[in-house]
Amino acid sequence: MQELTPETITGAVLDQMATTSDRRMKEVMAAAVRHLHDFAREVNLTPGEWIKGIEFMTLVGKTCTPARQEFILLSDTLGLSALVNGLHDKTAIEEGTHTSLLGPFYREASPTLAPGSQIARHVKPGTECVLYGKITDVHGKPLAGATVSVWQTSADGLYDIQEDATTTDYRGVFTTDANGLFTIRTVKPRGYSIPMNGPVGSMVRAQGRHGMRPAHIHFLVGAPGYRELVTALYLRDDPHLSDDVVFGSSDDLAVDIVPDDPSCPIPGVPSIRFDLRLSREGEADKTSGRVGSDPSAILKEKAAAS
Ligand SMILES: [Fe+2]
Repeated sequence: MQELTPETITGAVLDQMATTSDRRMKEVMAAAVRHLHDFAREVNLTPGEWIKGIEFMTLVGKTCTPARQEFILLSDTLGLSALVNGLHDKTAIEEGTHTSLLGPFYREASPTLAPGSQIARHVKPGTECVLYGKITDVHGKPLAGATVSVWQTSADGLYDIQEDATTTDYRGVFTTDANGLFTIRTVKPRGYSIPMNGPVGSMVRAQGRHGMRPAHIHFLVGAPGYRELVTALYLRDDPHLSDDVVFGSSDDLAVDIVPDDPSCPIPGVPSIRFDLRLSREGEADKTSGRVGSDPSAILKEKAAAS
């Protein structure tokens, strides 16, 4: 039997995993092992550091609940979610509006609302705004009947799921009209800190990072025959637009709240206008999935699999 050394262990593991029948799983796992081993060799990982990593990941798992996904937050704060989003964008057959993070606060259960409805149950004076625009293909052709799901924080910077996991607020699903137009009443979102009371927050603090996200509104847009668009719009005047802790913001998704836009479908209310362009659906879209999930759906899938 071959005596394994730090130099030969990687090859031995890859040899043993070579019988993996699923080709994609074989490719992904082989690369994961190569990079993990290279990482351990590069930093000369000590046993104490190894167990600290195990303890950290254990705590990340224990922090997950139906209303909180600490692993997604970890992926987000390490830039992995943004990286996978960027890789996914490159597989589109046409260049539409760029994607941004789904984030850890998406919920599948969201009320279906009529055009122009207010998504907030309680509107603080001075915070209301209108969100409107068109859903089009990449050439600007309006898409009627597209589904536009939005979710955001309150004016206090908290998602409903953080305040009370049993109620739904600051989110809604709209459908575009015959001209591809959507009109949503909402409140000005506020920039917020990611949850800092868990292991990911401890990591971010230890790294001397601020943990803030710029104010934004999440979008999930779908239309038959088109690639699903997961994106967000960011308020340009937010001080953290350029140093988002989860690397989601970008200049092309930055918007202004205009106080008196004459084209606003609801006159007299400050508004944001943004048109979103969808790429046609390609082969890759049938199996590629989505970067992010409703936290409760992940736990449900786990329960069903066990
Ligand atoms: Fe968010």
